[in-house]
Amino acid sequence: MSRIHEALKKAEQERTEYGGQPEANQTVANTYAEPVSTMRGENQSAPNFNAASAFTFDSLLARCPQSRWTPDLKTMLFFQDEEHKYGTEEFRTLRSRLYQLRERQPLKKILVTSALPKEGKSFVSANLAQVMVRQHGRRALLIDADLRGPKLHGTFGVTQAPGLSEYLRGENDEFGVVQRGPMENLFFIPAGHANANPAELLANGRLKFLLNRLEPLFDWIIIDSPPAVPVTDGVLLSSYCDGVLMVVRSNATPFDLARRARQEFRDKNVVGVVLNGIDEGSSPYSEYYYAAYGRPAAKS
Ligand SMILES: Nc1ncnc2c1ncn2[C@@H]1O[C@H](COP(=O)(O)OP(=O)(O)OP(=O)(O)O)[C@@H](O)[C@H]1O
Ligand SMILES: [Mg+2]
Repeated sequence: MSRIHEALKKAEQERTEYGGQPEANQTVANTYAEPVSTMRGENQSAPNFNAASAFTFDSLLARCPQSRWTPDLKTMLFFQDEEHKYGTEEFRTLRSRLYQLRERQPLKKILVTSALPKEGKSFVSANLAQVMVRQHGRRALLIDADLRGPKLHGTFGVTQAPGLSEYLRGENDEFGVVQRGPMENLFFIPAGHANANPAELLANGRLKFLLNRLEPLFDWIIIDSPPAVPVTDGVLLSSYCDGVLMVVRSNATPFDLARRARQEFRDKNVVGVVLNGIDEGSSPYSEYYYAAYGRPAAKS
């Protein structure tokens, strides 16, 4: 093997390894091709994609046309150009923290979890993905992996299926489940319709394959999940992720349940906790921000 060939091969390996953290906007010709046989469980049909085909961002753009989204503008904070909408600064701060962490560790696939329902996992996942793509050229993929109580499709005003469930059952390929809407570089995989045991679907090997295929094309992959205390899906999902972000709802999550959720992820990389739903007046950062730049006009 010539030296040039060796160097090219090494560079290719480095690009695809986690440690390199390539920026997704560098064109990555992802020719990742795990043999289908290694990811297929017994008695499961092969997904209907050609694993060896080149899978690039351009092919994703070409085959996933933009669709019309009708997001809930009250809770989806970045779809309008209201730079100072309440909550947006907190998400920018969260983004900065994650970038700081990423300087020290591989961090691209983030699971958003919490102990209980209604704590704001979907809210945080969706707005985190949005704030990521507010930075020029950054690409984010949001995946609704809450197969038991999917909500993100409703929040964005898009169709629920085909989505992750259909992909995991081998009924659709990536191009069939990835959606893109009006916000540049924000991509979304809805949950789809899980008609089998969601935990079994998530563990059948195809999710890992999907993430391996998509990872090189994005700067961030944010995964929404069901509550961690009642069901094990979150812990399972975390094994495919680089980091776990826990959401705790202010004045709502009981301390012992928050601690129990933390325990569930004791051997995982918990990168932070988002305290969600604090009163507008009690955010120290907002006070600082508004004092310095003027309070935004009251919303109607
Ligand atoms: N900080 C917030 N500001 C305004 N609304 C919020 C906030 N956090 C959550 N919500 C709203 O509260 C409701 C519950 O939040 P969300 O659906 O994100 O919780 P969840 O943890 O994903 O719940 P589940 O486990 O049932 O999926 C939603 O209507 C959401 O829009
Ligand atoms: Mg949710």
